[in-house]
Amino acid sequence: MDESAIKAFIEETFTWLHSHPELSYEEHETTAQLKKILSKEQIRLLELPLATGAVAEIGDGSKPVIALRADIDALPIEEDMGLSYASRFKGKMHACGHDFHTAAVLGAALLLKEKASSLPGRVRIVFQPAEEAPGGAQKVLETGVLDEAQAIFAIHTSPLLPVGSLGLSPGPVMAAVDSFILRFQGKGCHAAHPDRGVDIIPLIAHFISMAQTIVSRNSNPFAANLLSITRVEAGNTWNVLPETAELDGTARSLTLEDRLLIKDRLYALARGAADAFGASVAIDWHQGPPPTINDAFWTEFVLDTAGKQGFILQEAPKSLGGEDFSYYQEKLPGVFASIGTGLSAPNHSPEFRADPAALLPAAKFLAAIAEGALRKLAT
Ligand code: NI
Repeated sequence: MDESAIKAFIEETFTWLHSHPELSYEEHETTAQLKKILSKEQIRLLELPLATGAVAEIGDGSKPVIALRADIDALPIEEDMGLSYASRFKGKMHACGHDFHTAAVLGAALLLKEKASSLPGRVRIVFQPAEEAPGGAQKVLETGVLDEAQAIFAIHTSPLLPVGSLGLSPGPVMAAVDSFILRFQGKGCHAAHPDRGVDIIPLIAHFISMAQTIVSRNSNPFAANLLSITRVEAGNTWNVLPETAELDGTARSLTLEDRLLIKDRLYALARGAADAFGASVAIDWHQGPPPTINDAFWTEFVLDTAGKQGFILQEAPKSLGGEDFSYYQEKLPGVFASIGTGLSAPNHSPEFRADPAALLPAAKFLAAIAEGALRKLAT
């Protein structure tokens, strides 16, 4: 396929993907469609134990190996955009632009396929399932398909950046995302006789205020950290002091040190508060993805490539949201770049839209990264 044929093909594929959104781990039609396209284009599909998602390979048997990663899942959101290629599946929508990532990475694969015989190594094209649910990146990593890879690259749609621009910085760009549940246990009693129980309500009121001092008092004021209590549940009527209270929340940080600091302080404050009030507390801490940290060496290379491709370069739009690309970056150096897909409502909104005009430039950019990275590693 020549460039104009690839442009038309990936735009068509993008609209197909957009109209067929599938939730995490349910991406069966998407996977079948991708495999059909890759086979038809004679791009080598790797045999892997993945129920959804796929990995293809371009280039010959020699080293080095690098990887491009797209995520393929959609969100449980009802689309509200009136697009001609709107979601056909009620309550499901590609509201994070994973349809764009998939079509752009597919375009890069088609471009690389044209020059496969001259590539000084192999490019692994990763179509990862379930970025929006826990475990998607780990499923790919567990297959060992990236064991030999020396670098990995991904783009993400940004509705804050116009088409033709790229947001990229070295270092942390997205947060470690942890969540927790606290179960405080007091002693219930008649609301008129608090002296006969251990009242849990003032305890959690104090605790919620105390928890906010972790970010304001314990962490470095120049660091971006966050702690939110997101659910509080206690009691069921007006004349009884409840026995228990349950709190949910989330902690976000950009470094592993801050991640540990927040966890340690939260445990200390919860236990200290429970102790002070004569109650007890059980804590469940769920560790989510680590921070997304862009490798300095490869970030410079990607910025240089983007400049040569005519992108307007901007600082990465930093977010305390999470991204499971960070699991790959724990194993090998990686770069996660925000690509301008035109100003729109935010990701995960029913009115999010990625402009298809950004697709071909994204595909060419990813192909140039893959080829350039192999050349850099081969010399
Ligand atoms: Ni996303």
